[in-house]
Order: sequence, then structure tokens, then C-alpha cells
Amino acid sequence: MKRVAVLISGRGSNLSALIAAQDDSYKIVLVISNVEGAAGLDKAGAANIPTQVILHNGKPREAFDGEMDVALRRAQPDIVVLAGFMRILSDGFVRGWEGKLINIHPSLLPAYKGTRVHERVIAAGETLSGASVHFVVPELDAGPVIAQASVPVHPGDTPQVLADRILAVEHKLYPEALKLLAADKVRLQDGLALFG
Ligand code: GRF
Repeated sequence: MKRVAVLISGRGSNLSALIAAQDDSYKIVLVISNVEGAAGLDKAGAANIPTQVILHNGKPREAFDGEMDVALRRAQPDIVVLAGFMRILSDGFVRGWEGKLINIHPSLLPAYKGTRVHERVIAAGETLSGASVHFVVPELDAGPVIAQASVPVHPGDTPQVLADRILAVEHKLYPEALKLLAADKVRLQDGLALFG
């Protein structure tokens, strides 16, 4: 049974999916939010998962990351999951959790890294988009992909409609990918996701 910590900033719908999917492969032991009152904190609380708020405001990036690192080390997670965590993490923090830190991004990486993904996908006339779960490396959204799911982009889709369609598959994809990692069926080695 792997111990999992989840970092959030907002509504926490992926967190809810991860909570619901807990089985004997992983257990969520801590949820940290960098935003006070984030809806995801209530979802964790309702599931009796310890929560902590660590505010980033007015702190140098390294100081904030250092506080998170201390909180995480205390909880001793085997895996740290970013689920709608809207802060860029310092290289030092990422290296400290290398191979144990995963994120979900609402595009078919390596396409459409960064923000305003759905606007850009629609503007480019793509007919396919999706979500990717990846190991986190210092370069933003550039880590090796563990699992992906695709959805169609329909003519007339708004960014919100497309985001909602992708979110529905995120909720299935993220627990699946986490279970692969929790079961030691995938690992980060030499910058690659190795399976088996
Ligand atoms: C998701 O779309 C995820 O792909 C992105 O942030 C959003 C988080 O949503 N990284 P939620 O907080 O899990 O509902």
C-alpha cells in the first residue's frame, strides 16, 4: 500500500476521483492546498483525509517549496500527485521528488504544454485532444508520459465544453495511472517512463 499526498489549488474534481478509486494499492494520507478555502479541501475533509494549507503569497518560490517539502516529508508519501496545482515548482523541489511526482495535463502531450490549452487546440482546428498523466521534471509539462486518453474535438466546441469533455476522461485516467505507479509497474529511469 503506497502512501500518496495530493497537491491542489482549486475545486479538486481529480482529487475526488482519486479518493473514490483508492484500493489496496494506494491510500491518500495528506492533501495540501496553496489556496485557502479551495473546494478540494472540503472533499478531502469529507473523506477524513488530513489537509494542510500552505500559502505561497509573498514568498520566494524556494521558500514556499521548502515549506511544502517539510510538510510532505513529515507525511512520508511514496508518491506526490499534482491535481490542479497551479504553481510552478522549483527545480530543487522537483529533483527531490523525482520519479515520485506526477501531474495531469489536459492535452495530448507533448502537444499543447502550458496554459490556455483548449483555446489553442480549438484555434488550431485540431480534431483530437485529451489528457496526459506524466512524471514531473523541471521543464514545464515536459516529463515522460505514463498514460493518455483522447477525446474528439467537435466543430463549434467552446473551450469550456472541450475542458468538460476532457475532465470526464481525466477522472478515469488519473486513478489508472496512479495505480500503475503504486504497483511499481512504471518507473522513471534516464528520463523515460519504463513499464513492466
Ligand atoms: C484539470 O483540468 C487538470 O488537467 C489541470 O487542472 C484541472 C484541475 O481540475 N491540471 P480539478 O481541480 O481536479 O477539478
